[in-house]
Amino acid sequence: MNPGDAPFLKACRGEPADTTPVWLMRQAGRYMVEYREVRERTPFMDLCRDSDLAAEVTVTAVERIGADAAIIFSDILLILVPMGMDLTYGKGEGPVLGNPVRAASDVDRLEEAPPEALSFVYDAIRKTRSSLGPETPLIGFCGAPFTLASYVIEGGGSRNYAETKKLMYGDPGAWHALMSVIARSLVGYVRSQVDAGAQAIQIFDSWVGCLSPADYREYVFPHIRFLLDAISGPVPIIHFGTGTATLLDQQKKAGGDVIGLDWRVNLGESWDALGRVAVQGNLDPCVLLADRETIRRRAGDILRQAGGRPGHIFNLGHGVLPMTPVDNVKYLVDLVHEWRAEA
Ligand code: CP3
Repeated sequence: MNPGDAPFLKACRGEPADTTPVWLMRQAGRYMVEYREVRERTPFMDLCRDSDLAAEVTVTAVERIGADAAIIFSDILLILVPMGMDLTYGKGEGPVLGNPVRAASDVDRLEEAPPEALSFVYDAIRKTRSSLGPETPLIGFCGAPFTLASYVIEGGGSRNYAETKKLMYGDPGAWHALMSVIARSLVGYVRSQVDAGAQAIQIFDSWVGCLSPADYREYVFPHIRFLLDAISGPVPIIHFGTGTATLLDQQKKAGGDVIGLDWRVNLGESWDALGRVAVQGNLDPCVLLADRETIRRRAGDILRQAGGRPGHIFNLGHGVLPMTPVDNVKYLVDLVHEWRAEA
């Protein structure tokens, strides 16, 4: 197969494909016994930095579930280390940034990440690409400026983004300087991933849905637009967020060949409103905790909403949850592949 003819890449370009392509965010993760075994021996950051192991985990996951695309095993937060952040992954409690940014003087100490600081990611992409067949495209990724800024400011995950918004509203100058240094760092990082062999890029703006449309316009849009402008062209870009029902029009305007939808929206209606663009989504990850009948029914709802329109990539609305039975994931992938639009 000509690599460009893979159903996933065709769908990214809005072209018809024989079957609806499907992959899952967090398809390499703790729900999979093969991953847990690797993790028993290797701390998470070491795994990300070991390009042989990262490539192995990437390839094992895509082969195990039969997905139409692989996503490189890495993490959105790693770029913060060469910017000057102190990042650790504590046991069970998620990522911790030990020196959070709370004031303009903290922003000043951050540096633009030199792309070569993340050479282990590009090595992993090269190694993964050489062990995948031409029919399986490889997705590179990064966090979006807002989502990364929220970790930099909060020092970890957050419920209400109070510190983030405090800086955003209270010191717009510092806020824009922070968003700008993150966005500039991401440009070289994404270009290097593409040079290494990434055939599509997903931008994770996982937490941007905590903002109103007006705040998105003022505090986020210029920076995500700058990033998407700088990287668009060589490979398709998937622009993903959650809780973004009121932001989708601005996200589309900011850029991306594919817009990611979470389960809070109706895929068919959102696609109608978005107009000409490909879409990815949007099964609730919790549906994979239910019985097969339910999985079939709920996946069918989404496939019917897409209605066979070219440019649909089936995915969850967010990442696979750790307690998900791997057989249910496999069942979902197979059923999407076997689905035929009803007459
Ligand atoms: O999708 C994949 O299979 C590729 C790998 C991938 C990881 N993180 C591996 C990972 C991707 C695409 C990410 C992106 C990421 N990382 C996001 C955006 C996607 C999303 O879920 O919204 C975010 C917000 C992060 C930050 C992050 N990294 C958190 C909050 C956590 C801890 C909580 C969790 O989800 O496990 C991580 C650690 C992390 N990143 C793990 C994995 C497999 C778990 C580490 C472990 O304990 O083994």
